[in-house]
Amino acid sequence: MTGPVTVGGSDIFHSLSVIWMLAGVSLLLSLVAVAVSVRRLRRRRPARIVPMREAIAEPRNVMRESQKNGHSADAALIHWSPQMLRSVLADELPDAQVIVVSNREPYIHNLSPEGVELVVPASGLVSALEPITRACAGTWIAYGGGTADRLTVDENDRIAVPPDNPSYTLRRVWLSEEEHQGYYLGFANEGLWPLCHIAFTRPLFRASDWETYEAVNRKFADTVVAEARNERPIVLVQDYHFALLPRMIRERLPEAIVITFWHIPWPNSEVFSICPWREKILDGLLGSSIIGFHTRFHCSNFVESVDRFLESRIEREDSAISYGGETSLVHAYPISIAWPPDLLAKLPPVEECRARVRRRFGLADDVKLCVGVERLDYTKGILDRFQALDALFSQHPEWIGKLVFLQIAAPSRGSLPAYRALHDECEALADELNQRYGKDGYRPVEMVAQHHTQAEVYEIYRAADICMVTSLHDGMNLVAKEFVAARDDEQGVLLLSTFAGASKELLEALIVNPYDAAMMGEALLQALTMPGQEQTERMRRMREVVRDNDVYRWAGSMLLDAARLRKRGDLDRVTGGDIPPQANVISMFARRVSAL
Ligand code: F6P
Repeated sequence: MTGPVTVGGSDIFHSLSVIWMLAGVSLLLSLVAVAVSVRRLRRRRPARIVPMREAIAEPRNVMRESQKNGHSADAALIHWSPQMLRSVLADELPDAQVIVVSNREPYIHNLSPEGVELVVPASGLVSALEPITRACAGTWIAYGGGTADRLTVDENDRIAVPPDNPSYTLRRVWLSEEEHQGYYLGFANEGLWPLCHIAFTRPLFRASDWETYEAVNRKFADTVVAEARNERPIVLVQDYHFALLPRMIRERLPEAIVITFWHIPWPNSEVFSICPWREKILDGLLGSSIIGFHTRFHCSNFVESVDRFLESRIEREDSAISYGGETSLVHAYPISIAWPPDLLAKLPPVEECRARVRRRFGLADDVKLCVGVERLDYTKGILDRFQALDALFSQHPEWIGKLVFLQIAAPSRGSLPAYRALHDECEALADELNQRYGKDGYRPVEMVAQHHTQAEVYEIYRAADICMVTSLHDGMNLVAKEFVAARDDEQGVLLLSTFAGASKELLEALIVNPYDAAMMGEALLQALTMPGQEQTERMRRMREVVRDNDVYRWAGSMLLDAARLRKRGDLDRVTGGDIPPQANVISMFARRVSAL
């Protein structure tokens, strides 16, 4: 029998001390637990950008460091460089052959009176992809459109480039006049180009162009298969010329990783619905393992279009689309330029560039120079910036005679009526402004509708007080980034359209609405009168952004995502696909640190 429970004074005291002791121990344990968690958290915090020298000396360190942290190499934590790109390929995608496909070739050979002339085209795509293909020693497949292109290739239509330091293979594809007309000028540039840009030029869709577009995409698919050294290349498909190509590659090389990058905006689903072949375009693109756009906004528009027109499953959280038993990822990878640009080292100091450009255009020392550099295209807002100049002069006439606007306009797609009309309108408005505001040899607008080499363009950037990028709509716009990269003197002001993807990154530019001439006129005044110190602060910050988000990061992020897909695919094959494919992709990307 148990005795009676006594609740004497000493017993109460004893019970209380036990309770206090237990509470103390539990408090102590909690404190220890908190301390351990904080330490763990601190240890886990990996937000360190590895300094350039360290990364170049031992790039694999960075990979190991990030792998130790429980995930494979993470694009946002790596200092990217050509070496790092090569290292990622070697470590993460061993033996993978990189094949780039684009319409525009990086090197064009033309016949000229002096013999064969080499031209590097005015193309953001080319400036971005060229250093990448070089770093990967890949194969670049493109349309051979130069008049001497056939004379310069070997018997397999290949040529090693760059000519002065061959490091990759350019494989040219030949198109007949009709093919070029229907696929490039017709469907791509009279149909998809105006469809995707909100620039109020009506898209034209012809059934015959569509058929040719399909046939040319097939021709490029044949070339990819012919160039592939094995069943598993990494194919980087570029732009709106090849919406059908990803599916065609997938059918013939099911183990290839196809990454498609759409360099122009993607419209909302209402606008996209105009295209008579909208389902086929979406189906073609969904043959890609990864579909990339410059901004999240364009990713969402694409996902909405798929949701509206195809039977598919959308995982919005992870931007994954399951369609026809396969999954494609849709991600934003903001394109950029190489940092620092190679040719910067070959250019003279800013003062000398200024002097040379001023001499060439006959500008007085006290005249400010504002420049615009692009292809002569109706999406670029060239007329709108002329109108801004007009607005400035009419509101602030003291600037007449003190400012010259130099427009470099590379001829582009000149056989299309919309481009010829734009050329005439630009010439007419420039003449009108020169008549209205010009005097004693002073011409406020110089329009040079000619191709310029990259070195000439950089010299102009370095000579300018202001650069105007006033696109009505633009995927990214690399001119904005090039201008910033060219200004190692930390001077110069960038006026940047809010409708260019670059405005999401270069926040220290003067952001303008190109449809508002009066507002742009005032922004010009702000730029003209901006103190040097403020220019430095803005330029310095923008240079940091471009430096930290260069084109190697753009490509590297895509390649790392490709590597994850490949590893997961290989694992599936081993496990017999026990894990549902959708779950695989989602869990894999749940931890993804976006490059943005
Ligand atoms: O901006 C879209 C784009 O295809 C770029 O990728 C390229 O820089 C530019 O247009 C060049 O156009 P094209 O090759 O028609 O001259």
